Amino acid sequence: MTDPLNLTREVMRLGQTDLHVSPLGIGTWAWGDRLFWSYGQGYGEPELAAAYRASIEGGITFFDTAEVYGLGLSEQLLGRFYRDLGRPAVLATKFMPLPWRWQRQCLLQALRESNARLGVPTVDLYQIHWPVHFPVSLEGWMESLADAVDQNLTRTVGISNYSTEQTRQAHQALQRRGIPLTSNQVEFSLVCRAPERNGLLKTCQELGVTLIAYSPLGMGILTGKYTVDNPPPGARGLRFNRERLQKLQPLLGLLRELGQQHGKTPAQVALNWVMCKGAIPIPGAKNLRQAQENAGALGWQLQPDQVTALDHASGGW
Ligand SMILES: NC(=O)c1ccc[n+]([C@@H]2O[C@H](COP(=O)([O-])OP(=O)(O)OC[C@H]3O[C@@H](n4cnc5c(N)ncnc54)[C@H](OP(=O)(O)O)[C@@H]3O)[C@@H](O)[C@H]2O)c1
Repeated sequence: MTDPLNLTREVMRLGQTDLHVSPLGIGTWAWGDRLFWSYGQGYGEPELAAAYRASIEGGITFFDTAEVYGLGLSEQLLGRFYRDLGRPAVLATKFMPLPWRWQRQCLLQALRESNARLGVPTVDLYQIHWPVHFPVSLEGWMESLADAVDQNLTRTVGISNYSTEQTRQAHQALQRRGIPLTSNQVEFSLVCRAPERNGLLKTCQELGVTLIAYSPLGMGILTGKYTVDNPPPGARGLRFNRERLQKLQPLLGLLRELGQQHGKTPAQVALNWVMCKGAIPIPGAKNLRQAQENAGALGWQLQPDQVTALDHASGGW
C-alpha cells in the first residue's frame, strides 16, 4: 500500500525544529491524577512504569505532561520512568497561567520547578497550557517562552488550546525573537473535529506548527468499551451521556469493521485516523495493555477512502 503521509516512518519532525518524535505520543494526565482519573484505584506507579516501558518498546518516543497533572506527580513519575529506563525520549510539559501568576517572570520559575520534578536540566518542549492573557498579554507570555529558550531551560516552545487567530499571533510574536512556534496542543479526535472545521489544522500546517491532538480516544469512548449499559465513570459520563453514546454506535461500528480489515482494534483505527490528518495523537495509557494497544496504531495506515468513511460517520461531532 502507498504511504502518502509517510505514517509508517519511525519519526517525524516536531514543528520546524530539529526534534524528531514518533508520529504518536503518550499523554500522562492520568498519571497521579486522583480527581478526574482516579489514580490509585485500579492502577498506580507499577502499572504506569509498565505502560512507560511498553510505550518505549512499542516505538513511542514522545511523552506529554503538565505541572498541574496530579499536582506535579505526573511530571515526577514521568521523569522517574525516563531516568530508570535510560532510553531516549522527548519530554513535553506545560505552564498554567494561574491568576496569581501576574508577572511574566513567573513562567521561568515554574519551568525550573517542572524541570526539577522531571529531573532534567532542559525540557524538550514547554507549552502554555491555556490562552489566559490577563494580566500578562499573549505577547508577554511569548517573550517569556523565548527567554526560556535563551536560558536553555527548554529546547522548543508551544501553546495549547489556542484558537487560529491566537496561533497566528503567538507565531508572529516568537518570530520577532527568532524562535519558531513548535506546536499547538488541542482536542482533536473523531468525536471532536473542531480543528478541521475552524481552520486551525490548516493554519498550523501552513505555519509549520505541529498540531498535537489531545483526548484522541475521546477520553476512552472510541475504544468501544463504554456503552449505554456500561457508561464511562465520573465526569466523563456527563459529556458522554446515554443519548450521545447511543448516537455514537454507527461510528463505533465502523471503527470495528475497519479494524477487522486491518487486524486492528477500534482504538488503533481511531488513533490512525488522527495521524492520517497530519496531527500527532497523544492518547493516555494507564497500564501495559493500553500502552501496547495504543502503540499498535503505529506502522500502518488507513486507506484514503476509509478516512473519508470515518469523516462521514463522525460528521455530527
Ligand atoms: N492541553 C490540554 O488542555 C489537555 C487536555 C486533555 C488532555 N491532554 C493531554 O492529552 C492526553 C490524552 O487525553 P485524555 O487522557 O484526556 O484522553 P484519551 O487519550 O482520549 O483517553 C485516555 C483514557 O482512555 C482509556 N484508554 C486509553 N487507551 C486505552 C485502550 N487502549 N483501551 C482501553 N481504554 C483505553 C483510559 O481510561 P480508562 O481506562 O479509565 O477508560 C485512558 O486514561 C492527556 O493525558 C494529556 O497529556 C491535554
